[in-house]
Amino acid sequence: MFLKRKKQKQKVTVDERLQHIAFIMDGNGRWAQKRGMPREFGHTHGAATFKKIGRYCESIGLKYMTVYAFSTENWKRPQKEVDAIMKLFDEYIEQCFIEMVDDNVHIRFIGDLTIFPDSLRAKMDRIERETAHKSFLLNIGVNYGGREEITHACNELIKLGKKNITEEDISAHIYTADCPDPDLIVRTGGDLRTSNFLLWQSAYTEYYFTDVLWPDYSGKDVDEAVEAFYSRKRRYGGV
Ligand code: IPE
Ligand code: IPE
Ligand code: MG
Repeated sequence: MFLKRKKQKQKVTVDERLQHIAFIMDGNGRWAQKRGMPREFGHTHGAATFKKIGRYCESIGLKYMTVYAFSTENWKRPQKEVDAIMKLFDEYIEQCFIEMVDDNVHIRFIGDLTIFPDSLRAKMDRIERETAHKSFLLNIGVNYGGREEITHACNELIKLGKKNITEEDISAHIYTADCPDPDLIVRTGGDLRTSNFLLWQSAYTEYYFTDVLWPDYSGKDVDEAVEAFYSRKRRYGGV
């Protein structure tokens, strides 16, 4: 789950205004290419950063964290890269079994998981069930797409026999139904787009973009995003 490293220096803490942070963990490939290494090298380092940042976010008082690990569109990448990412995912799952006893993390996988083999899904299910009582909720988006999620929610409602769908119905059937919408979405890697992440949930989310490539992302960078969040005024359409 999260790296058991020397405690990172902590500058900020959060209150009820900032409970849920989400990350578009982008820039692994460029980070590796800058070092003359294959893109897969960046994903390995990115996986370590994910654990470090997860631990840090929990330590500053956040209650929910959602990460974009693999999108419904990322299958378009070269097979070698996809295989490397899936191997890292598999390794992460195995580590969860060892580390989840000590961690305070409820791990949940969000996305269209039907694409994964039954054996892997059974492991994901077990991790989710066995960590369900922990207080820091970590949603990991794998084969996740915001459009797929909304379409899936609508299809679930059709199955229930709904003829008219309300916003509340959709909110109740998205993958993150039981957790508040993200207060802050951070995208690393310098691109200024959502790339199909949390489309429904982000209607009033604050966005923070940084050029830092994900493998270089640190607790200090989280502090910066949190400070930017607290400098903003959320109006939700009001005055
Ligand atoms: C994000 O990093 C990780 C995944 C999408 C799986 P990228 O692999 O997209 O890295 P860049 O954006 O090409 O640098
Ligand atoms: C978004 O990054 C997906 C993840 C971080 C998992 P991409 O690298 O796939 O996004 P685009 O292709 O630049 O929009
Ligand atoms: Mg990218």
